[in-house]
Amino acid sequence: MEQNCCEKTHMPVIGDVAPSFEADTTQGHIKFPEDYEGKWVILFSHPADFTPVCTTEFITFASMEKEFAALNCKLIGLSIDSHYSHIAWLRTIKEKIEYKGMKNVEVNFPVIADLTMDVAKKFGMIQPCESNVSAVRAVFFIDPKAKVRALMYYPLSTGRNFQEIKRLLISMQTVDTHNVATPADWQPGEDVIVPPPGSCGTAKERVEGAQKEGIKCLDWFICFKTLKLK
Ligand code: BEZ
Repeated sequence: MEQNCCEKTHMPVIGDVAPSFEADTTQGHIKFPEDYEGKWVILFSHPADFTPVCTTEFITFASMEKEFAALNCKLIGLSIDSHYSHIAWLRTIKEKIEYKGMKNVEVNFPVIADLTMDVAKKFGMIQPCESNVSAVRAVFFIDPKAKVRALMYYPLSTGRNFQEIKRLLISMQTVDTHNVATPADWQPGEDVIVPPPGSCGTAKERVEGAQKEGIKCLDWFICFKTLKLK
């Protein structure tokens, strides 16, 4: 039988208040949540500086930083590397690495140097069966009330899809603003799902009145509408 190498890892889950922390980063000292009031935060970990998959991820994420800023979202990176290693790696990325047409990319978001693993452990980013010396590829989506709204965990060998990270953020913001849900493979601008009715009466009304309200129902429990965006 395979040995179970996993000591129990504490991991915040959806709905938890995100653990608070202070950390030294490539952009100075940060305090969470104090420095991020009223903002969405994407806190993500990578296994190590100067590794190929992580390099492609950083170039991609840094190239999208303005798109996330426009969505009221700040990015924070983390790995179990020193401040000096982070600085040297980010300089190398800017000066030497081109990936998919992206070059001279400056990483302006803070990257935590978590040599003590204090922050990584609070967020369950160390998963000993995968590695006990580096963080897995975790992504925490934290809302402006400091609640964990979604999380992703990828193994060391697979780079993340940053379009999906953006899509998920926009979906959650759309859900919060309009009290709707978003269907499979939804893309911003596409029709959204109206919450299902809570009683038999409202189910009947829903189907009968749907067309008048511009709601398209496939059946009483699955109705779509187009959002009127400003
Ligand atoms: C990488 O980023 O390339 C990587 C990091 C750790 C393990 C495997 C790949």
